[in-house]
Amino acid sequence: MSTVDIKDVTKVWPDGTVAVDHVSLDVKDGEFMVLLGPSGCGKSTILRMIAGLEDPTEGDILLNGEPVLDLAPRDRRIAMVFQDFALYPHMSVSENIGFPLKLSGVEPVPRGEQIGNVASALGIGDVLARKPGQLSGGQRQRVAMGRAIVRRPGLFLMDEPLSNLDSGLRAELRAEITGLTRELGVTTMYVTHDQAEALTMADRVAILRRGVLQDIGTPTEVYGRPATLYVAAFLGAPRMNLLEASVYVHLDRYIALNFGEQALYLPWTDIRARAVAHYHGERIVVGMRAEALTPVAPDAPGDVLHGRIRYLEHHGHESLAYLDIGATAIMVDEMGSAVHDHQVEVGAFSKISAAFSRLTGRPSNGAAPDREETKQESVLGENGRHHRRPAELAVRLAPYPAVSPGHPLAVTVRMDSLHFFDDRGDRIDVGWR
Ligand SMILES: Nc1ncnc2c1ncn2[C@@H]1O[C@H](COP(=O)(O)OP(=O)(O)OP(=O)(O)O)[C@@H](O)[C@H]1O
Ligand SMILES: [Mg+2]
Repeated sequence: MSTVDIKDVTKVWPDGTVAVDHVSLDVKDGEFMVLLGPSGCGKSTILRMIAGLEDPTEGDILLNGEPVLDLAPRDRRIAMVFQDFALYPHMSVSENIGFPLKLSGVEPVPRGEQIGNVASALGIGDVLARKPGQLSGGQRQRVAMGRAIVRRPGLFLMDEPLSNLDSGLRAELRAEITGLTRELGVTTMYVTHDQAEALTMADRVAILRRGVLQDIGTPTEVYGRPATLYVAAFLGAPRMNLLEASVYVHLDRYIALNFGEQALYLPWTDIRARAVAHYHGERIVVGMRAEALTPVAPDAPGDVLHGRIRYLEHHGHESLAYLDIGATAIMVDEMGSAVHDHQVEVGAFSKISAAFSRLTGRPSNGAAPDREETKQESVLGENGRHHRRPAELAVRLAPYPAVSPGHPLAVTVRMDSLHFFDDRGDRIDVGWR
């Protein structure tokens, strides 16, 4: 039905803001493509250029292989649901959904039939006579989607359509949206700043930072093999642990990754060993997700890191321990609200509780009072600003474990799950996917 080709597109606003910077990407027929990135990275601008609401400064956009920059929005067979969608308040649900059909002259009987089909697919068949003011937020959102898809567009553009809804409803609608678009076989581009949403919904994800495309691939590809430090830091909750390591090659044995007080040893049998060995005598960034770390007895053999618990976060189904291992962490700028909702809330909560404990002199529950005051040192890399600070290694534990801050904890590291990045933030690896 529809393919999209964005060819080296740049958008510079009159005030000089570069909103989109030489982005190329293609969307296949029937694909669900998610554009992911923090606020201001150019997501909406890309969608608006595809829809014909803005013109690119440079580059070309093709739909079904045909250049469309000369076509008016209405001639592009595109439906768009906006970030701040609006329904016509004086019209019923049925009239709202049917409005585009009425405009294009569809007779009342077939119109009613199409409205009925779309409404029942969206689970709002029983509220067709109501006005938008008599609907819940989720129902209103479904009406907006119904209005967009009722004309069977070739391409469906959705700009953060769920951002105004509570998290439970969002999760429910995510599955409905992907189910519906797959059922209709309509090519979809979906914008979000929520990495969990992107990973659960997408066939492929394109990750943007400051208008620049950082990585593109299936959720498994971008999560499992992030192309840059930024993508590594952006995807997943808890965030990937990113530690600074100095590399020392022992030709007859292994490659030592020194984290300060401790080291890990990459064997020559590891397929990435030669690539990492190029950095002998230099500092690189080693990424380890919480799932690559398993708590073990302190005297366990193998690839083990030892630390002390600085603080714990309880998430119900699991607890996270943050370990001081005497290493330096690299923090990446502009993560925005990329983290999972509950992490944002927990983060905000620990700030408040830390402030509370400073006021009262009493230790707060769970969060270390000095967590937010950890000393940071900033370095401006080629790919943006990174910060160095004492590492707090995130480790998954069973819910409400019998440990508390101050306890020692040892973890084994799955060496084959480590990620390596150079000082520009690019992945160090064998080959390119
Ligand atoms: N009409 C405009 N004139 C000047 N600058 C603009 C205009 N519209 C957007 N921008 C700027 O372009 C950049 C990209 O904006 P865009 O709306 O595409 O971001 P976004 O990724 O959709 O962000 P959000 O997640 O907050 O919606 C931002 O720096 C924004 O301030
Ligand atoms: Mg936007």
